[in-house]
Amino acid sequence: MTNKIIFNKKIYSFNKKITVPGDKSLSIRWILISSITNGICKAKNLLMSEDVIAAIRAIRKLGVKVTFNDKICVVYGNGINGYKFKKNLVINAQNSGTLARLILGLLVDAPVPIKIIGDKSLSKRDFKRISDPLSGFGATFKLNKNNSLPLIIKGTKKLEPIKFYEKKGSAQCKSSVIFAGIKTNGKTIIKAKKSRNHTELFLKYLKIPIKIRKKKNFDLIEVNKVKKIKPTNYKIPSDFSSSAFLIGLTVLSKNSCLQIKNVNINPSRIGMLNILKIMGVKILFLKKRFYKGEVIADILVESPKEIKPIKCPAKYNSGTIDEFLIIFLIAAKANGISFFKNLGELNKKESPRLVWGAKILKMMGIKTVLTNDSIKIFGNPSLEINKKIEIKNYLKDHRIFMTSTIAALSFGGEWHIYDKDSINTSFPSFLKTINMFNK
Ligand code: S3P
Repeated sequence: MTNKIIFNKKIYSFNKKITVPGDKSLSIRWILISSITNGICKAKNLLMSEDVIAAIRAIRKLGVKVTFNDKICVVYGNGINGYKFKKNLVINAQNSGTLARLILGLLVDAPVPIKIIGDKSLSKRDFKRISDPLSGFGATFKLNKNNSLPLIIKGTKKLEPIKFYEKKGSAQCKSSVIFAGIKTNGKTIIKAKKSRNHTELFLKYLKIPIKIRKKKNFDLIEVNKVKKIKPTNYKIPSDFSSSAFLIGLTVLSKNSCLQIKNVNINPSRIGMLNILKIMGVKILFLKKRFYKGEVIADILVESPKEIKPIKCPAKYNSGTIDEFLIIFLIAAKANGISFFKNLGELNKKESPRLVWGAKILKMMGIKTVLTNDSIKIFGNPSLEINKKIEIKNYLKDHRIFMTSTIAALSFGGEWHIYDKDSINTSFPSFLKTINMFNK
């Protein structure tokens, strides 16, 4: 059975109100944190995608009970030291870097070796960025060649706190060290380049000993060992990164308007909106409210008359890290040359996304200049595609699939996009949502 989808029709103007599924970062964090609470935690609107299901399987393997009651996910936390470690334990993180990296922080005291494996894409990604700091706590690691998965971690009972300078702007590295820090006697200190801060906000809400001092370019975080974590219920807001594709579709369409309800607009996640404002796009937040440390709102976006090019300030990079592919598409329609720099991290995602961004634009007939960490995009406001474009062998990167779909629906042409099941990692209902725009 082919897993390919063909698009050959553009979407014209629309005016829609939609909801997208739950936030992936928050869903995975909620599962991991609930698994170490002392009691029963319930979540509504948990993202039911492959990455999140992999997280549920992982904590079940560690002896934590998880059930579903109607659409509510229930995790029966066993406490901060409550994991049960069987011999020859293998955790399959599948496609999820967030799961693989964050859970390692919770395994720094594991008394038996635990093997972490992943799919083809995850097995190409760097884990030295995690094993280095966690080794400082006293855990030992055996990594595959190229510092990748499969890896084996063995923890220690004699954990030592560390001082860690997180320079990449990686929330996964930061969060993993925070998790190890809450298992360790003494003060773990992290100086972290700005990145999404859901872990800190959640732990703060749970009154776990964590202090955050915000500086201009980095955050100073201090964590201490925690004895007990109170169980917590959570209503997961919608995912901004999933919303981003529909925001992109609106920006690239004519005379269109879109409202997306209940989205997590945590300022560390919405760099894309700052970039779009510079590019001349009107965006409004409606019904803004606070929820357990996070900020939620309905997002209202209108298609602009003209898209302005941008010399993108690198300070927006970390807050836009999952949205650059869609930004590149928007830059392809801008009235001039756009430039994005310091984006080496983009090539370390589920696929080398900076390279893929340039590849897709080239197939669309857009000129780019690509380096290891930057891209210059020569926008064409009247771009229309009239040819066949094939997107395949992209390591099943869900964001490549969704970006290509938005390109097909916005610029026309006949797109043959393979591996449509890639969307199951983050936005399983993506194609259903897209279909609503045709009505
Ligand atoms: C994530 C952090 C980011 C992001 C990923 C989700 C998280 O990765 O790209 O999709 O939930 O912490 P890095 O921490 O590697 O930048």
